[in-house]
Amino acid sequence: QDPRIARISSAIRVIPDFPKPGIMFQDITTMLLDTKAFKDTIDLFVERYRDKNISVVAGVEARGFIFGPPIALAIGAKFVPMRKPNKLPGEVISEEYSLEYGTDKMEMHVGAVEAGERALVIDDLIATGGTLCAAVKLLERVGVNVVECACVIELLGLKGRERLGDRPLFVLVNAT
Ligand code: PRP
Ligand code: MG
Repeated sequence: QDPRIARISSAIRVIPDFPKPGIMFQDITTMLLDTKAFKDTIDLFVERYRDKNISVVAGVEARGFIFGPPIALAIGAKFVPMRKPNKLPGEVISEEYSLEYGTDKMEMHVGAVEAGERALVIDDLIATGGTLCAAVKLLERVGVNVVECACVIELLGLKGRERLGDRPLFVLVNAT
């Protein structure tokens, strides 16, 4: 394993019982305070994706907005925000996805991407996989080829990876 991973992993703070009892919250904000860990995180993604002909980095609101833009700039791709409903001002396409209780919607601007483009989808964490799946579906609906999904953290045990089917998922740190 890359020696940078251990430092990244230890810079992530785990807060028990947030936002509700029983949840072990993976808090990446402490990793952002560690300038080396944050840079290493971005570098690891950039090293992986720089030669993959990716023209779109799609970041999932909110924490995908932290990691997506520096990766996009470094690999020469555009950044496309995948937003919570009613935030984007232009024409959007939207995809519903299920939460623990109820559903939510994700939206993307029409015209932000073109059919045939190659995309990376980025977020901070995959749990059930519902969020990443919605982002992938939005892109695929307009003919974009999702090369890979990437997260800093994978919560094992919730089988989010299975929900992505054949689509590859790359993560830096595993958690339970
Ligand atoms: C968290 C996390 C992922 C998502 C993962 O975001 O940042 O986006 O949950 O969960 P899933 O794999 O079960 O779909 P959250 O919805 O809490 O919103 P935020 O990033 O805007 O804080
Ligand atoms: Mg999120």
